[in-house]
Amino acid sequence: MATFKLNINGKKHQVDVDPSTPILWVLRDHLNLVGTKYGCGIAQCGACTIHLDGAAMRSCILPVQAVVDKNITTIEGLSEKGEHPVQQAWLEHDVPQCGYCQAGQIMSAAALLKDNPDPTDEDIDSAMHGNICRCGTYTRIKTAIKTAIKTAAKMG
Ligand code: FES
Ligand code: FES
Repeated sequence: MATFKLNINGKKHQVDVDPSTPILWVLRDHLNLVGTKYGCGIAQCGACTIHLDGAAMRSCILPVQAVVDKNITTIEGLSEKGEHPVQQAWLEHDVPQCGYCQAGQIMSAAALLKDNPDPTDEDIDSAMHGNICRCGTYTRIKTAIKTAIKTAAKMG
């Protein structure tokens, strides 16, 4: 066990855990930030995607000791009231089915738009291909991302 100070969604948190504990478990079990989901545990599904200093990362394989001094953002901290362009577009297009994969999908899409405000179809496919949806909402996801791109461009 060791004590770690973490920056999550703009707030400081302190946890006592084994240094090898994946940050996913710290978020869910220690801090009750359960919007980030556990799917595969081996970086293969994207359900656990968070942002680390703005970049999309798989939290299931990220040990807590590797994220000290980084800015962690979870789906709970992406925006104050769900007003991020990606979240708005998800609502507009009614993207989720069961919903399990969707926090990860949104976090991957938001990281893409931050990095590349005008992505091509290939850029979108490449950024999103690691996020699996067993309900097959891929068409709506892509449509929503395109709407979010337009909204974000208008917002400047
Ligand atoms: S739970 Fe992390 S990628 Fe599947
Ligand atoms: S909405 Fe069900 S897994 Fe994606």
